[in-house]
Amino acid sequence: MTRSVASIIAGVPRQDGTGVRLVSPNPAHLDEVVTEGLLGDAETFADACRVATAAQPGWAATPAPVRGRAVQQIGRLVEDNKEALARLITREIGKPYRESLGEVQEVIDTCNFFLSEGRRLYGQTVPSEMPDKQLFTFRAPLGVAAIVTAGNFPVAVPSWYLIPALVCGNVVVWKPAEYAAASAEAFAQLILHGGVPVGVFNLILAEGNETFAGLTQALDERTVDKVGFTGSSDVGRRIGELCGRHLQSPCLELGGKNPLVVMPDADLDLAVEGALFSGFGTAGQRCTSLGTVIVHESVHDDFLARFANATESALVGDPMQDVLYGPMMSERFCHRFEGWLGLAQPHQKLYGSTATGRITAEHPRKGFVGDPTAGLYYHPTIVDGVTIDDDIARTETFGPIVGVASFADFDEAMALANSHGYGLSSSIYTTNPLNVFRFRERISAGMVSVNNSTSGAEAHLPFGGNGKSGNGSRQAGIWVLDQFTRWQSMNWDYSGKLQKAQMDTADVPADLSYCLPEDER
Ligand code: UN1
Repeated sequence: MTRSVASIIAGVPRQDGTGVRLVSPNPAHLDEVVTEGLLGDAETFADACRVATAAQPGWAATPAPVRGRAVQQIGRLVEDNKEALARLITREIGKPYRESLGEVQEVIDTCNFFLSEGRRLYGQTVPSEMPDKQLFTFRAPLGVAAIVTAGNFPVAVPSWYLIPALVCGNVVVWKPAEYAAASAEAFAQLILHGGVPVGVFNLILAEGNETFAGLTQALDERTVDKVGFTGSSDVGRRIGELCGRHLQSPCLELGGKNPLVVMPDADLDLAVEGALFSGFGTAGQRCTSLGTVIVHESVHDDFLARFANATESALVGDPMQDVLYGPMMSERFCHRFEGWLGLAQPHQKLYGSTATGRITAEHPRKGFVGDPTAGLYYHPTIVDGVTIDDDIARTETFGPIVGVASFADFDEAMALANSHGYGLSSSIYTTNPLNVFRFRERISAGMVSVNNSTSGAEAHLPFGGNGKSGNGSRQAGIWVLDQFTRWQSMNWDYSGKLQKAQMDTADVPADLSYCLPEDER
């Protein structure tokens, strides 16, 4: 069944715009159209921001526990529609169904975490330096949050922005990835049916350049107060510059080149399992996907043999079956991925499959599940012999490719793990706590796994990166509240007179010349 989608502003589907028609096929069965619709343009985006601005005071004035109730109802609707939403995600972007179920669960977890935040949103009472005076802090909403997200997690990662933004009293304009528009539209419907008032939540379907132009216009019109963006470091940089001109600090969640370090004392089978899932799960299209395995030279050959073997025998194919991964999400990722495959150098050796590149009748993969020619399927590729000077060691390669490097001492491993300038996720496999804490101290990443894969973060720990992976903002859990509220401080003097801070404070006289008697020293 083809789903017809459109932007939704103030609860009304919008069919105006540039007239660019969206037609998205199922990447596992290219002859099946999953999504069609009309994309909006810059003006559609700016219009949504105006509508949102008008709706914001009413939502901010709604008691926070009532906003939390809406989040509770959204979570319930998502839970009741879990399988349907997961099936749609798999049809639209080819994520294995089991992973899609996990993704929807991540939305439910996020709602479960934030539904009670409406009953907390704690501020503080703070003692004053004056008598008869009290100090307070309050969390105030920011206003309109414009959220622009990628399609590899078409509902889970957006929920990390949308749900806390709403519970904190902000209104939302959400622009999801075009290639995941049906999953986004379905999630938007669940949000709107969960009790969020008209105008408080708006969905814009538009291409990237129109979105950027619309955002530029909205910032000029002062109808956007916070930008959230998940996507590439290049676009993140442009959004950061744009927001900076308006003295705004966006929430940026960007790319990664996530290392997995294998120490000589590691459980190698466990490390292989972790590398397989983080390297090839979601066809390597997570921002937390494994970039380079950095293996101690004493176990390198053993690890590589086991990793190559596990990858060669892993099931790839139809995402509705029990496979490690399915197709690439959309055509646009295939072209880029083919370019990155070309980064492999003559001094490196390739492992992992019966060929590289697209899986076709001429270049088949042993044990493929289903018909490879029906979709956008790619061989898994392991590139062994990566060194710190290779392009592949510093390039984010969004797709099923993993580099393997070897190291002699820990300093060398850390140089490889940090040299690319990203700092999102990381992992170390070891049985020695000394290695764990040394790694934690020295790794540039915002997220560290110990004896676990680089991907698969839980929904209530801070998520985010450093360097080229973001601007230090953190999503999820209590930490994201600082993205969607601003601290307001209040002081209340009820003494009936003007008491001047720092000047009228009482003194506590002390004798600071006092010393203990000589024989005690
Ligand atoms: C992303 O790829 O943008 O930690 C987010 C993970 C998921 C989220 C990935 N929970 O892999």
